[in-house]
Order: sequence, then C-alpha cells, then structure tokens
Amino acid sequence: MPLVDTKEMFRKAYEGHYAVGAFNVNNMEIIQGIVEAAIQEKAPLILQVSAGARKYAKHIYLTKLVEAAVQDTGLPIALHLDHGADFDICKACVDGGFTSVMIDGSKHPFEENIALTKRVVEYAHDKGVVVEAELGKLAGVEDAVKVNTRDATYTDPDQAVEFVERTGVDSLAIAIGTSHGAYKFKGKPELDFARLEKITNLLPGFPLVLHGASTVIPSFVEECNKYGGKIDGAQGVPEDMLRKAGQFGVCKINIDTDLRLAMTASIRKYLTEHPGDFDPRQYLGPAREAIRAMVAHKMRDVLNCSGRA
Ligand code: G3H
Ligand code: 13P
Ligand code: ZN
Repeated sequence: MPLVDTKEMFRKAYEGHYAVGAFNVNNMEIIQGIVEAAIQEKAPLILQVSAGARKYAKHIYLTKLVEAAVQDTGLPIALHLDHGADFDICKACVDGGFTSVMIDGSKHPFEENIALTKRVVEYAHDKGVVVEAELGKLAGVEDAVKVNTRDATYTDPDQAVEFVERTGVDSLAIAIGTSHGAYKFKGKPELDFARLEKITNLLPGFPLVLHGASTVIPSFVEECNKYGGKIDGAQGVPEDMLRKAGQFGVCKINIDTDLRLAMTASIRKYLTEHPGDFDPRQYLGPAREAIRAMVAHKMRDVLNCSGRA
C-alpha cells in the first residue's frame, strides 16, 4: 500500500469514535519505534514532520525513511506537514511527496487566516493532497484557567463553521485548552468540552484535530530526573480527557512531547548505568524500544485505534 492521505482514516475514525495518532518524527529511531507499534497494534498512522524536523534531518531523508516504513509495513500511513507557517513550506511538502499538510494561520487575524488557508487548499487539492488548518490559539499555562481569556483565544464555534465553509479545508485544529510542550497546566488540568461538543454539533462529520495532546507520562519525567535531568512542574493532558475528546469530532491527536520524554529518559538511564559504552546503537536501540512501548499503549489504551488499519 502506498502512502495514503487522511480522508478515509478520518471517515472511519469519526464513525468509530476513535482518534488516529499523529506522531512527530525527526530521525530513523523515532520513525521505527512508532512504526513497530503500529504494526503490533494494526493501527492507522500519521507521521508528521515540523519545519524544525525538516531543517534538522532534511526533507529527503525523512520522506525516504517514511517511504521505507510504508514498504516495510503495508499499513495505511499518511505523511503530514505539522504547523506549516506559510504557503511556501506547504507547497514544498505538497510537491515533495507529503499526502497532507497543515497551514497554521492561527496567529493571523480571521480574514488573513482564511485567505492563506484557501490559497494552500487550492494548491494542495489540485495535487490530491489534504489540508489541516488551525483556528484559535492554543492555551498558554496562564490562559487555561481564565474564562474571559478563553473567549479571546479558544476556537469560536460559529467562526469555525464559517472558516471551514469558506476555506474548503479538510480538517481543523481547535483550541480548547491544550498547549504544546511539557508544561500544559499550572493547576488542575481542564479542557473546554462544552466548546468541543458545540463545534462537533455545528460541523457534523467534520474531522477536528487536537494539538498539544501529550500526557507527559509521569514515569518518563521521573526517570529523566532520576538520571540527572531537571524537569520541574511538568503536566500533560490526562488520558481520560483524550479518550473523551475521541468521543466527539476529534479524529487526530498530536503527540510529540511524550516521544521526546520516552527517548530522553531511556538514553539518560542507559548512559548512567553503562558509563563505559559509547556505541550509539547501544543507547538508541533501547530508546527506540521505549518509543514502541509508549506508542503501542497510546494506540491501544488512549486513542482506541488498535485493529483499525
Ligand atoms: O508542535 C510542535 C511540535 O512539537 C514540533 O516541535 O517545531 O520543535 O519540531 P518542533
Ligand atoms: P505535544 O507537545 O503535547 O506533544 O503536542 C505536539 C503537537 O501538537 C505537534 O503539532
Ligand atoms: Zn501542534
């Protein structure tokens, strides 16, 4: 099976009330760890590449590694650009073999976001590539608790409808209280499910996307800190909230921070326990295995997408 786009994946996920995991990839071990989990779980998969990942590893290396994963597995895998900031990076990825791109115009005013997204949609659709956009701003730690800030930054349900209609976009990332990185909430984790429900009801059948959805798994944070790390006050989105999001229109859940923590915890542990080792395969092998186990757990116990490939 060649690389796929996300249309069929999202249609099935929407109907089945589950979400597909979109995992950020930066190198071979990360790709292999994720893909091994997808094979084990027979799960559909989105591998996503940020501008930073393209800069770090080069577009061609990442696309060739993902092509290898497709050949190796026969699973439905989509290759997606994460947070494309402008038309040019989206065009480069459409032209360069990606099956899905995100144009993130969320920092622009509404009309500019629409115009930019529409331009990307026209270009991408012409080449058979699907487009994700973003409306609303992901919460900063401060924003999450204040209702008045919510209305200014979280996705407005009526605007979401207008945005989708006017742009022709294929999926939409929404802001309901998640944020990127390891420090998502200052106090009690809280997501605006009433808003999510409203957006879902206003856009029936339309796939929504949740960014900033790492759980920040405590055992990895503890392991990092046990072996010389210093990660204080980290907090992610609890698993039950992610399960709940999948019951609404959320079809894609983005995970990067948990991959970083799993990999770093494993490498810290290995190198501390084996101070004489210096062959990268000795510590990257266990790190890849830590990623496999973590991603398999997400697919099975959180996203509910095991057996759906
Ligand atoms: O949403 C951001 C992703 O975690 C990618 O992060 O830009 O550092 O590659 P990055
Ligand atoms: P996390 O930082 O919560 O893993 O979110 C990743 C993400 O949204 C990538 O677009
Ligand atoms: Zn994101």
